Amino acid sequence: MTQHTGNGEVWVLGATGRIGRAVAARLAARGSTPVLVGRDRERLLKVGAGLDREPKVVVADAAERVAEQITRQRPAVVVNTIGDYAGTAETIARACLPGGHYVDLAADLTAIPRLLGLQPDAAAAGSTFVTGAGFGVLATEAVVAKLCEDRPTPQRVRVDALASVATEAGVMGAFAVSFVDVLTTGGRRYANGRLVKTRLGADAQKLALPDGQTVKSAGAPSGELLAAQRASGAPSVTVTSALVPTAPAVRAMLPLLGVLLSVPALRRLAIRRMAVMPIKAAARPREHSWGHAVVTWPDGTSREGWLRADDGMDFTADVATEVAVRLSRGEGKPGAYTPAAAFGPDLAVAAGGSFVLG
Ligand SMILES: NC(=O)c1ccc[n+]([C@@H]2O[C@H](COP(=O)([O-])OP(=O)(O)OC[C@H]3O[C@@H](n4cnc5c(N)ncnc54)[C@H](OP(=O)(O)O)[C@@H]3O)[C@@H](O)[C@H]2O)c1
Repeated sequence: MTQHTGNGEVWVLGATGRIGRAVAARLAARGSTPVLVGRDRERLLKVGAGLDREPKVVVADAAERVAEQITRQRPAVVVNTIGDYAGTAETIARACLPGGHYVDLAADLTAIPRLLGLQPDAAAAGSTFVTGAGFGVLATEAVVAKLCEDRPTPQRVRVDALASVATEAGVMGAFAVSFVDVLTTGGRRYANGRLVKTRLGADAQKLALPDGQTVKSAGAPSGELLAAQRASGAPSVTVTSALVPTAPAVRAMLPLLGVLLSVPALRRLAIRRMAVMPIKAAARPREHSWGHAVVTWPDGTSREGWLRADDGMDFTADVATEVAVRLSRGEGKPGAYTPAAAFGPDLAVAAGGSFVLG
């Protein structure tokens, strides 16, 4: 294998998307000229026109084509915002080996373990891979890591991912895949150190937030679960998300929807239809996004903590940018990590969040 020397470039895959555009703009504001990668030259150039300096664009219309371009051109850092991480992240991350670094925004229990499974390859090749570099999973992982600092292994951890997000007028886009994946995976929790099935939408609750607002959340198979388990070592871990519908009638339908969407043809149809579903612009429903964790030790003592951020999408773009900048400075350790495992819980503060710890 030829040793990767890298061309120093930071590539943003999916640069025409909501997060891709935001990351490209943030990178440009921080003095680096991102390379915009996407499926359509005209739309990439339009994004580029909004940046201070005219960026290079790379046109590639599928994950395999993107991987070929990475292998050929050897960017230093690849920020993957194209979604469908379970299906494509491994191909793209592997193309960064040896020596190139990779960051994505996966938040599900298929893609994240798959990427973390590349640990030995990344470590041997001097590459750093970071998965979950967004509100999910960092907002909760960072709180768990903070609460567990210098403490023995807890017995139980509960995390709640409570994003508040403004919607842009447009279409559902890449989020359609994540949504269908949540429905088909069903609920999950850790019990006695093992990942076990639960009902999707279990543990529904209404939480009082530190800013006086309230939010409803319910169980989902999200990457937060895995990150919280790894950050704490606790044998028992549960997760809820504010993105799961909490109305009883809808929650009752979730398992049936999951079964239906497991049929490959129905899954493809649903993703195709949902991806082009129009979405109206709307302000974010609550002032802040919150990551929340309650950690309980075997002696019964318990600590609670929060991470406050503003819009969940803005925070996500800030996290992905901060990780990309650190990786481009060579600050990552070789291997594959979730974000707080790679850079410590204060990464969330560098991305604009603040801790409220009990
Ligand atoms: N972890 C978190 O907290 C977090 C937060 C926000 C978002 N996310 C995830 O991040 C991803 C991006 O979100 P977003 O809101 O920016 O989505 P988006 O607006 O739909 O943008 C997706 C981008 O990826 C491109 N793309 C989609 N499929 C592709 C393919 N097969 N090959 C090449 N390019 C492809 C799209 O290109 P076109 O413009 O050509 O369609 C677009 O540029 C989603 O998976 C979302 O679930 C995670």
